[in-house]
Amino acid sequence: MSQQIDQLVAEYKNTGSLKGLPSKLYIDGNWSDAHNGQTMDTLDPSSGKVFASFSAAQKKDVDLAVEAASSAFHNVWKLTKASRRGEILSRAADLLEQQADRFCVVEALDSGKPLAEAQGDIASSVSALRYYAGCADKIQGDSFPLGEGNYSFSTLEAVGVTAHIIPWNYPLATTIRGVAPALAAGCTAVVKPAEQTPLTALMLAEVLRSAGLPDGVYNVVNGTGAEAGSALVNHPKVQHVTFTGSVDTGVLVMQAAARNITSVTLELGGKSPIVALADCDIEKTAEGVLWAIFYNAGQICSAGSRLVVSREIHRQLVDKIVEKAAALKPGHSLDNPNFGAINSKAQLDKIAGFIDRARARGIKVACGGNKMHSAETADGWFFEPTIMDDVPMDDELVQEEIFGPVLSVQVVDSLEQAIEAANCTQFALAAGIYTQNISSAMQLSRAIDAGQITVNDYWAGGIEVPFGGNRRSGIGREKGLQALRSYCATKSITLAF
Ligand code: NAI
Ligand code: MG
Repeated sequence: MSQQIDQLVAEYKNTGSLKGLPSKLYIDGNWSDAHNGQTMDTLDPSSGKVFASFSAAQKKDVDLAVEAASSAFHNVWKLTKASRRGEILSRAADLLEQQADRFCVVEALDSGKPLAEAQGDIASSVSALRYYAGCADKIQGDSFPLGEGNYSFSTLEAVGVTAHIIPWNYPLATTIRGVAPALAAGCTAVVKPAEQTPLTALMLAEVLRSAGLPDGVYNVVNGTGAEAGSALVNHPKVQHVTFTGSVDTGVLVMQAAARNITSVTLELGGKSPIVALADCDIEKTAEGVLWAIFYNAGQICSAGSRLVVSREIHRQLVDKIVEKAAALKPGHSLDNPNFGAINSKAQLDKIAGFIDRARARGIKVACGGNKMHSAETADGWFFEPTIMDDVPMDDELVQEEIFGPVLSVQVVDSLEQAIEAANCTQFALAAGIYTQNISSAMQLSRAIDAGQITVNDYWAGGIEVPFGGNRRSGIGREKGLQALRSYCATKSITLAF
């Protein structure tokens, strides 16, 4: 870790907080309190302690932010040359990269994830800003062959004000994943971070301002989902909502958007399968599955939370993953352990509830299954890396998103059974395949319903690859060139001559 990270970690350990954290709302280029002065606290999941507080927006504050974004859209940003928009985003990428150390310490502290994982988040956020910076002046229309006497072409126009509702598991990365393509396309943005992780979206405001972004183009209104989030997604001047979070809240967001005929991108839950066939490389597969479910303590919509394994290798593979899981050691996020905290007490209790009920049903616990209490975890919220073995297809451990470090193993006897097991939930977000046989890999890739499939490397991918789910996992795609489509409307223009 760098000297600056060491200094920030020492500061936190000595004082219980960090100096200079942003705490206000960011509206129209100004830092302001909520109009009624309301604030909320944010906690450090590794210790369970409050370390900062922040302004919590009410409907009135959200209205001001949307008005600012609307005015900035019509008067400034949509009139700004596309290449200039790209330059600003590119400069923001450079500035974020320069400030990566501070961002990663704050992100680790606010979310509970290990420092190294937070460093990965900031690096991927820099990549996303750069990627969409390069896209800004390459958003092009078409022309249509009407024949003699007509000339017909289309332009892609920015839709206007966009709302971004952010979850707590990837606070900055999810913010940038939505905001970067929106700004590149010429839209303006109002961001509502999760209650648990309000800080890095605010810090990003300062980065974007320093990069030259005009006032009102990027606004941040922290606050509760019920008050600030709801006011934002119900606002008639919002033209697109990008939401990442739970299915239940996704339904509310879609209902709110429906009243205003506002388009949505919904990135919701998952119960993504990893199919391991008998001919897979056991060591590589065990390592892949380990991190597919235990990275960020399993709090990832696309976590590989089900292992669909051929009976011939079931014992050998599960034993290998159990052995590797034993090497995962929890600790305070700023001590950079290889296994981090659960983001909130509520989420910890939810995970424990799933396991308690499964035990009562007689499901076998191959490893883990308990909340963790030790000197390293202190009063923080930690749950053991857990593997539940040979779980029936209709069990809630197979059907429901747990959003924690819990792998459910399903044993199968054929490729057909593997396909049936892989597709047996209401979700269809991601899937992994481990096999040496290219033909089996392609058959499975065709047959599994998912937005993204990886073969022999679960987390393969990047900002270039479209991301999103089918069925109850959501609507639309983020990342890649596809993400730009959410933020543009096609206008066709036809001339007669
Ligand atoms: P949530 O979906 O309620 O929260 C996500 C965001 O939506 C937060 O910013 C929240 O303030 C906002 N929100 C809540 N109600 C809203 C409303 N009526 N209108 C507009 N915005 C609203 O999820 P929560 O409660 O944090 O976690 C519950 C479960 O959701 C987790 O246990 C997990 O299973 C799942 N989840 C999935 C995520 C994913 O990446 N797909 C991320 C976070 C949670
Ligand atoms: Mg927090």
